[in-house]
Order: sequence, then structure tokens, then C-alpha cells
Amino acid sequence: MLIKTDQGFEHPTPSDITPRAVFEQRRGLLKTLAAGAAGPSLALWAARDARAQAATTAGPGRLPKLAAQRSTVEGAVVMDKLTAYEHVTGYNNFYEFGLEKNDPARLAHTLRTRPWTVTVEGECTKPRTFGIEDLLKLAPMEERIYRLRCVEGWSMVVPWVGYSVSNILRAVEPTGKAKFVEFITLADRTQMPGLRSSVLDWPYKEGLRLDEAMHPLTLMAFGLYGEVLPNQNGAPLRLVVPWKYGFKSAKSIVKIRLLERQPRSSWEESAASEYGFYSNVNPQVDHPRWSQATERRIGEDGVFQRKRPTLMFNGYEAQVGQLYAGMDLRKFY
Ligand code: MTE
Repeated sequence: MLIKTDQGFEHPTPSDITPRAVFEQRRGLLKTLAAGAAGPSLALWAARDARAQAATTAGPGRLPKLAAQRSTVEGAVVMDKLTAYEHVTGYNNFYEFGLEKNDPARLAHTLRTRPWTVTVEGECTKPRTFGIEDLLKLAPMEERIYRLRCVEGWSMVVPWVGYSVSNILRAVEPTGKAKFVEFITLADRTQMPGLRSSVLDWPYKEGLRLDEAMHPLTLMAFGLYGEVLPNQNGAPLRLVVPWKYGFKSAKSIVKIRLLERQPRSSWEESAASEYGFYSNVNPQVDHPRWSQATERRIGEDGVFQRKRPTLMFNGYEAQVGQLYAGMDLRKFY
């Protein structure tokens, strides 16, 4: 994120990559129905049915399937066109595997995702270490279609599979003192060549306020496009906080800590004036070195095309705006 500023943003060359056919069909169906070709209740029913179908049958076929139900969480399914699987899994930030956008896809095959445990500790009455198999069964898997807006100025639309992080937090029973949640990710030099670089203070750490972490839209993702997560996207489990810049969505999590005090994230430690704790997507608050008013959708908006406007809270204001009522968002950026 710090690295590319002077040269502008990197983009994949416009290509002939085709989004997954079944997902595309589904989008067409949803649009037709949304346009009123059928009555509203039929439209809703058919859209949900199509989503459920897609989640269980339409994976790209490279990784094990991860079955999911349609999500009923408000705002969990945006109607934007999906970003092609090839872009979602080929244009990544995962600095533990290098700084270039195509490094994670090339290098993350060395990540070992089994056995895997996640320790949940701190201000809770039932601290626990979960095996990944326990976590996969902890709550029903849902398909959710979220916008992901990177602080660098690009965005994607990804069909994730997972469930609300609140399911994990509730299982350990946070105490009254718990006010924040810290997410700590794997840092293993034998698996992650990027750790040789000192671009960040490893392990990669991120934090949320407890009410943000408990918000139903805050997702623990285990899959995308109906399959388990590819390593480069943060296997076997990663956070997705759709109204915040992408760097809050920590990948390959091994520890979750409930805290009384606000933790410092890796990005705050590296440049606090540029990356705040909140990091809510906000087109009115510029990064000190560039505007955040617009964005380019990867694989869709060409370099010569006008960028699209960035939405307040990435378009999730109706769902999450209340969390920040009365706060000065210029100060708490
Ligand atoms: N998590 C870890 N552990 N390491 C990282 O470098 N990069 C973040 C975030 N999570 C990162 C991480 C950034 S900057 C972004 S934009 C998103 O992951 C990118 O997620 P994606 O590659 O699945 O699109």
C-alpha cells in the first residue's frame, strides 16, 4: 500500500478473462427480476433460489466446494457485477508472499492450511482454541456478495462464503470489559517468503471495536465463489469488513484477542498518519497522499475510463452508519 504511490495504481491489463458463466447468468436473472419482470415476491424468491444454487454448484472447480445458504443479513448481497474469479484470485495484497499484485497467486502454494487452529482469548469467560474443522461447523455457511474497496483506489465485488464473526465471539462469551477485538495472522518464515522484508512489523495485525466486530456484516470468510479460499486470498479463514478499506480484512488468522484497550494495527504502526484505526471507506476524507473520492473496479473499468465515485462506508451506510453517530470522521479516520 505504501509502495505504489508515486507511480499511480497498478492494474491488470484489460483482458479476455470471462467471469464465471453461472454467476453471470445469475446476475442476468437477478437484474431481470429486479427490473420487475415478475412480481416482487416471486423476484425475491427466485433471486434467493438462484443464489443458493450458485453457492453450491458454480465453483470454478479447482478447490473443494464449500456449500452455503443464501445470506439473509441485510445488505449482505450487493447487486453489482461480480469481479472475475481470475482477478479475485490473481490480483492480491498479501505481503507475507510479496509486494507485487501477482506474487501471492504465484507464491502462496507454500502456505500449509492444515492442521490449523485459531486461539480466541483475552476478555472472555470461555477462552478456547478452535481447530479449523470446528470452526467450519460452528455456524451455517452463507454466501455474501460484498464490495471490497482497497485504500489504493481499486475495488472488487466478491462472492464470499462464511458467517458473521459474532458467532465466534459469542462462543467465548466476552466479559463486560471487552471493548475491542484484535485479529492476528500467521507469521511463519518457513512458509511465507515475504516475511524477509521489513515492510511491516509481522505478524500482520488488525483491530475492530467490539460493536464493529459483532455487526452482522462483519464476516469470517472460509471460501469464495462457492469453494474454499485459495491460499492467496487468506486461507483457511480471513476477515472481511466490507465498509472499511481492504487492509482491515486480515488474512490467515491464527489468534483473536478480546481487549479492554484499542490495539494498534500493523498499518498504524507503520504509518499512523496515513492509516487510522477506523479506516472506514470515506470519499470525503483523503489519504494524505491521494484522493479517496473515486475508484477503479478491477477487470471492469479501463485505465482510460472515468473512475466511479466511491460511496460513503463503501455503500453500507444504511447498515453501519449508526456505529459512528456523533463521531468526527476526519479525526477518527
Ligand atoms: N492480510 C494479511 N495477513 N497480509 C496482507 O498483506 N493485505 C490486506 C488484506 N489482508 C493483507 C491482509 C489488504 S491491503 C487488502 S486490500 C486485502 O487483504 C486484499 O484481499 P484480497 O487479496 O483477497 O483481495
